[in-house]
Amino acid sequence: MANDKPKNVVLGVSGGIACYKAVELVRLLVKEQYTVQVIMTRGAMQFVTPLTFQTLSARPVATDTFNLTQESEIGHINLADSADIFVVAPATANVIGKIAAGIADDLLSTVLMATQAPVLIAPAMNIHMYENPILQENLRKLRRIGYEILEPDEGYLACGYEGKGRLPDPEAILEQIRLQLKKKDLAGEKLIVTAGPSREPLDPIRYISNRSSGKMGYALARVAARRGAEVVLISGPTALTPPPGVKVTAVNTAAEMRRAILDEYAACTAVIMAAAVADYHPVEFSADKIKRGKGSLDVRLEPNPDILKELGRRKDGKLLIGFAAETGNLDANAEKKLREKNLDMIVANDVTKQGSGFDGDTNIATIIDRRGATHSLPLMSKDELADQIFDHLLTLRR
Ligand code: C5P
Repeated sequence: MANDKPKNVVLGVSGGIACYKAVELVRLLVKEQYTVQVIMTRGAMQFVTPLTFQTLSARPVATDTFNLTQESEIGHINLADSADIFVVAPATANVIGKIAAGIADDLLSTVLMATQAPVLIAPAMNIHMYENPILQENLRKLRRIGYEILEPDEGYLACGYEGKGRLPDPEAILEQIRLQLKKKDLAGEKLIVTAGPSREPLDPIRYISNRSSGKMGYALARVAARRGAEVVLISGPTALTPPPGVKVTAVNTAAEMRRAILDEYAACTAVIMAAAVADYHPVEFSADKIKRGKGSLDVRLEPNPDILKELGRRKDGKLLIGFAAETGNLDANAEKKLREKNLDMIVANDVTKQGSGFDGDTNIATIIDRRGATHSLPLMSKDELADQIFDHLLTLRR
């Protein structure tokens, strides 16, 4: 959000035990420089006091006991108009029922009725309430009219049951808010993003791989989805959570990655190869576990297909973006790869630099494009770098 005017989140909190998670959500939003206007129902005030939200949001909380003085100062229509996004978290079955039926009999439902902002509803309740066909019918209706519904998580519920009904973690709700608010300047792009390492098996237990965490590729997929692109994330094995709104295809070997890319290639507009694909694989795969022997063990390797190079030969009007992880001579090596693989852009980073190596949340990169532009970027988060890469991709479209 660095340079934009702060976005205003109107957060409706209704009366469920998950209200405590809404407290954390406000803290995270404020930390990311959103302004937050909380509206609480009477029920919510039984669980958490308005003072808690007021302290964290640094704004008076609008409640159902909203008096005439407050109304003349803030006004429910002003509240509705001030929203860049309207979030209801947690949303009880009652609030969902009221919204679906068009009832506006308290402040939250009235302001929601009046808003023109995108609406995000995060239901949280007992599993049987959640599975109730009336509730499900109400959610379908809200989806149909364009409200975003955040599926509850499964797990232990405060009522003692196990199942679906938990309010997702505040981080996950925050990610949905970012997703909704982001400028949709990548709408129309169908991107293949690759991420993570490949694994080249030696036997059923061992493989050759590398230190890639997949974080850069996942950041690219997440940010592209936020900006309105359709994204297929083709991922080697990682420990990361798939970003919302992204189709994920899991692969192991370079050959599987190649196959998965070719399956999607015709329909895509660009390929971003952030994966650290192994350059070699063992010539032989032993179906049985390789046993310890007396002497040394020779493993013969043969080259994997260079997927990007192959795509570069076909091109078919797609934008191709590669990565170059280098240990020296950054610009010259990257430039050479750009030409050899017939790419439109290459993102180079020196993995020996602090803040630019594997598994971190930051990167220091240089973007070089086919027109000869070179941008050396400072240390930044991988999400920020992803934004820079897409800003640059858009310049290549002009
Ligand atoms: O030549 P080098 O492996 O350094 O090139 C890196 C770029 O090429 C990355 O974008 C990587 O994803 C891609 N690559 C590939 N197929 C390979 C090896 C790397 O597409 N077998």
